[in-house]
Amino acid sequence: MTPLDPLKLPVHLAVIMDGNGRWAQQRMLKRIIGHQRGAETVKMVVEQASLLGIKYLTLFAFSTENWSRPTLEVRALMTLLKKYIHQETARMMRKNIRYNVIGNRCELPDDVNETLDEAICKTANNTGMVLTLALSYGGRQELCRAAARLAQDAVAGKISTSDITTGLFDSYLDTGGLPDPDFLIRTSGEMRISNFLLWQLAYTELYFTDTNWPDFTINELHKALADFQSRERRFGMTGDQITQRGDLSNA
Ligand code: IPE
Ligand code: IPE
Ligand code: MG
Repeated sequence: MTPLDPLKLPVHLAVIMDGNGRWAQQRMLKRIIGHQRGAETVKMVVEQASLLGIKYLTLFAFSTENWSRPTLEVRALMTLLKKYIHQETARMMRKNIRYNVIGNRCELPDDVNETLDEAICKTANNTGMVLTLALSYGGRQELCRAAARLAQDAVAGKISTSDITTGLFDSYLDTGGLPDPDFLIRTSGEMRISNFLLWQLAYTELYFTDTNWPDFTINELHKALADFQSRERRFGMTGDQITQRGDLSNA
């Protein structure tokens, strides 16, 4: 396996877990079997990320647009989600992982929300990795919700327009309190963002692999992280400025 520098891991890793349906269809199986296999990959990635010392892991599990899928698939995904949370909460406790959810939770079924609340509450005092599940999540919808709450506070006189900075806006997002992702992995060969974290991905390093999510392995995760470590993040500066900064921090 590619050796990783523990000091150069992403603080926040985000993943668009894609390709469950195609994985199943290629094997003449029902799409839900692909989602079930995908849940096994989730367990592996959560465990590995926590072992590696990654502080924040955010997984795109269900998008606003995924509500348009056939009712049976949506229902099966909600059942799978509930089962996953039930099964995994004990492991999250052992591994000191804290659950967090982003997205429009009002759209989720009541029983799913109850399961989520229970898991969030139980893991609230854990101090290890923060595992954020993006559920009924859409980046544009999140931005609209944030803008609406900001406008409410402005109308109520709690803030004035001159207070509106990127930092303040950030705090109104579902992700308020989380750092922006350093690294985004998308599986299944699609090279798009699909309405995920539109604001937060401004300077995120992007990584695409053809592997479908159920086939994504520990080796592939390490390969992706090694790729991240080989990149120079410039944030608009010149390469020389970044090198100098690195020299100073190493001095
Ligand atoms: C990702 O796999 C899981 C969800 C979006 C819920 P897909 O179900 O999108 O799989 P493909 O893209 O159809 O293969
Ligand atoms: C993105 O995958 C959403 C999730 C992984 C949950 P989709 O499969 O829904 O994205 P598109 O439709 O291919 O863009
Ligand atoms: Mg897909």
